[in-house]
Amino acid sequence: MKFLGTMKNVNGVLEIGGVSVNKLKKEFGTPLYIYDLEFMEKKIRDIKKTFKSEKFKTTIVYASKAYLSKGMVQIIDREELHIDAVSGGELYTILSSGFPSKRIHMHGNNKSFEELYTCVQNEIGSIILDNRFEGEKVSQICKKLNKKMDVMLRLNIGIDAHTHEYIKTSKHSSKFGESIFDKEIQNIVKNIIDKEYLNFLGFHCHIGSQIFDEMAFCEAVKIMVRFTKEISKKLDITIPEINIGGGFGVRYTAEDTDVDLKIIMKKIIASLEENCEKENLIIQNVTIEPGRSIVAQAGSTLYTVGGDKKTYGGEKYIFVDGGMTDNIRPALYSAKYESVVANKLNETKKEIVTIAGKCCESGDVISKNTKLGKCTEEDLVLVSCTGAYGHSMSSNYNKALKPAVVFVRDRDVYLISKRESYEDLVKNDCVLPKKIYNID
Ligand SMILES: Cc1ncc(COP(=O)(O)O)c(C=O)c1O
Repeated sequence: MKFLGTMKNVNGVLEIGGVSVNKLKKEFGTPLYIYDLEFMEKKIRDIKKTFKSEKFKTTIVYASKAYLSKGMVQIIDREELHIDAVSGGELYTILSSGFPSKRIHMHGNNKSFEELYTCVQNEIGSIILDNRFEGEKVSQICKKLNKKMDVMLRLNIGIDAHTHEYIKTSKHSSKFGESIFDKEIQNIVKNIIDKEYLNFLGFHCHIGSQIFDEMAFCEAVKIMVRFTKEISKKLDITIPEINIGGGFGVRYTAEDTDVDLKIIMKKIIASLEENCEKENLIIQNVTIEPGRSIVAQAGSTLYTVGGDKKTYGGEKYIFVDGGMTDNIRPALYSAKYESVVANKLNETKKEIVTIAGKCCESGDVISKNTKLGKCTEEDLVLVSCTGAYGHSMSSNYNKALKPAVVFVRDRDVYLISKRESYEDLVKNDCVLPKKIYNID
């Protein structure tokens, strides 16, 4: 396993942020999500330092779906980033953390009336309209509350990018956004502009996730700039903003490219400047929405080994006390991870094993055929790079308790989310009246 951030081998025991995994296990139990605060801040600052231009302002919006808690919101606030939400729940978490509402941006392909109402009432920074109907809904709410709202329109620009490949003009059926190829697109924009209570900022796109090929982003920039110019000319309006979404790739295992965020940011800026000049477009602000690239590598999951099993078929399993409930990504899309026996780093004997969880599902695997040091019951296995879409996609399947979350830095540990209790699991359950289940 590649050591990330502040990870260190101290006499065979892994330390993160100067705190040993033995101490973390003793104080907080396992499974445990551990976030390396210093490393997370470095990622944020790398983006802040390099996503900059002298030609236009830039805005960095943290895509909170990657990992969200009140503690995380505080970090984003302290770093003066913006933040997005795609649901009432995310919005509530952010607002109830005291985050300045002007730096909140609302996404979603099917926002409810209540969600939109909360956005307008709290005067958030902007709403990214997903489709031609949403402008009308927002406008009515604005009228009722007598408040104006900044809006963008999400576009489907015909690029489908994933990992190392991107395909142009293939993805016309995505549920997100309005297509730039739709013959109605000009009217859709005009309808938004004509609404008294809406202030149209510009266009948004998000071309996919875990993208390593910076050419995909440059292609998106080219299309967005050209389209913005075309519409501003046709409608004779000034469009001040472009938002090109998130999706910047992250190294999970040796199979992935080790991306340098700073280089990607600089290339995107160069592409924006070049295309704006070519199209003679003056843009005031460009926004990006990184999620994974800020939190993935800063997060790890610590498990306790319960035992092992060599199957008749020859597969060697190491069983850990969590699984698909705290990390669904391997089961969902065959995501791969690296891991170590965190309390026995100097163990030289390694074997190929499959790390499996304790759920009643054959697909409950964290890492298949991975190289791991020899370990036995009560040893600690740490899986790295679990900071994005792990906690946020966790579930209570098999009534598993959602693990605690800690942030570590400079030998300090901050409890960010408590481990769930059995009482938490049933707190919303209602008991049937006796007359229904006790019929004789
Ligand atoms: C609109 C939008 N912006 C940003 C992101 C964040 O993407 P990532 O975490 O890959 O950076 C997503 C992820 O799905 C998204 O849908």
